[in-house]
Amino acid sequence: MNMTSFLKSRKSTREFKRKNLTENDLSSVRELIGKINEEIKDSNMEVKLYEFGKRIYDSLKGVGGYAGVMIESPHYIALDLKAHGPEEKLSSGYHMEKMVTRLNEMGLGTCWVTINDLDMERMKAIFGEDTGENDYLLAIGYPKPKNPFIHEQFSERLGVEEIAFHETLAKPASMNFLEERGLGDIMFYVRFAPSSKNLQPWRFIIHDNNVELALEELNGEFCYTDAGIAMYYFEELARTQGIKHAWTVDMKPLEVMGKNYMLIGKYEL
Ligand SMILES: Cc1cc2nc3c(=O)[nH]c(=O)nc-3n(C[C@H](O)[C@H](O)[C@H](O)COP(=O)(O)O)c2cc1C
Repeated sequence: MNMTSFLKSRKSTREFKRKNLTENDLSSVRELIGKINEEIKDSNMEVKLYEFGKRIYDSLKGVGGYAGVMIESPHYIALDLKAHGPEEKLSSGYHMEKMVTRLNEMGLGTCWVTINDLDMERMKAIFGEDTGENDYLLAIGYPKPKNPFIHEQFSERLGVEEIAFHETLAKPASMNFLEERGLGDIMFYVRFAPSSKNLQPWRFIIHDNNVELALEELNGEFCYTDAGIAMYYFEELARTQGIKHAWTVDMKPLEVMGKNYMLIGKYEL
């Protein structure tokens, strides 16, 4: 499936079949994790597969997930962060979401799961002595078939003009302007990226030769993981248009019209 169709239909799976992945699928997941770990080997992170999901689920019931609503799945993937700065969080979002697209190609369902307020002692009891801090897990498994008679709720997305700006965050970019710049599709589809609580904190500022990513502070927080996810999709969508650049990260705080932002970096056009 190409990236635009994938993004438009991308949906979190919150109900999984009560069945483990086949040995064949598990070995493909292990292989994928091996590849991602090879890519991130110089960073302070490691992807780990927890095959015995029931133990993780039982330990995180009432703690993991929004308001303690833990997502039950046969297996979980964790991205173990040995350091916890903004750059590690950006990178964790980027790589975890890359994994989501690959898992989806294998026919597997996924859902990001937020881990709230776990102290290191409890973290080690659940994930093992050598664990770093885990902010999020990925629940994975075979999705339960959907009931065709029940209309599924769609998670609303912001409009293009709410996330794309021209030169400054005070000036929303029109679709016409984006089309002229060849950025219409990228901006249309990047909105379907998942984000924590669906808050969609990413803002793109279009300049003559580059696009800047700004992260809006929402509920007193900068969710760098969400920014990393948007960076991944932006790069993939640009690639479908033949632009094969990568983001350069250079973070700076910014205040515009009473709102706080963190400028994350630039993508050269
Ligand atoms: C960093 C992050 C954390 C998330 N945490 C949870 C969670 O704890 N529980 C949950 O049900 N969904 C979680 N999600 C899924 C988002 O709520 C979901 O992707 C978003 O609302 C869009 O909905 P959709 O995936 O159904 O399109 C999380 C997503 C991200 C990116």
